[in-house]
Amino acid sequence: MNYKDYIADIPDFPQEGILFRDITPLMADGEAFHQACDEMIAFARKVGAEVIVGPESRGFIFGCPVAYELGIGFIPVRKPGKLPRETVSVSYDLEYGSNELHVHKDSIKKGQKVLIIDDLLATGGTVDATIQIVQELGGEVVGCGFLIELEGLQGREHLKDYEVFSLISYK
Ligand code: PRP
Ligand code: HPA
Repeated sequence: MNYKDYIADIPDFPQEGILFRDITPLMADGEAFHQACDEMIAFARKVGAEVIVGPESRGFIFGCPVAYELGIGFIPVRKPGKLPRETVSVSYDLEYGSNELHVHKDSIKKGQKVLIIDDLLATGGTVDATIQIVQELGGEVVGCGFLIELEGLQGREHLKDYEVFSLISYK
């Protein structure tokens, strides 16, 4: 399948100068969405994931089907003010703007093998912050899986120590 056929390229969104890769046409196509999830599931099996960790909000879209298929848990990484119990948090920069991510403090078991799944790797700020939180909570990151990688933003520089999977790459 040529997954790029299902990604819409939107210039100057959400800010001037950003070429936004819109995943919603892929999500709207049952076959493309199913096949993309299946490829992430194969990666999750390969790295021996015991739990999936996914950043809000688009990380939920791909992380949850993988967790469901493997019969393992899904842990949400959320923006400030969303999680009701005690959290661990990290601040980070985005391709556009900055943010802070939170995870419930009791969500990851010590030594648990964690696969981080998100829709897109841009600067790597989000996945880097997520890795920091997972490690602070005692989890072992066994891989990072993305639908899309924006190679030009060099997010992989943050991921040299990890197995990385991406289905679609843009220079
Ligand atoms: C987007 C995307 C990734 C992140 C990638 O999320 O879904 O999580 O940015 O960028 P980075 O590699 O530079 O960190 P965003 O924060 O826009 O939130 P959303 O999923 O709720 O739209
Ligand atoms: N497209 C979609 N989502 C994003 C992008 C992008 O170019 N950069 C950061 N999140």
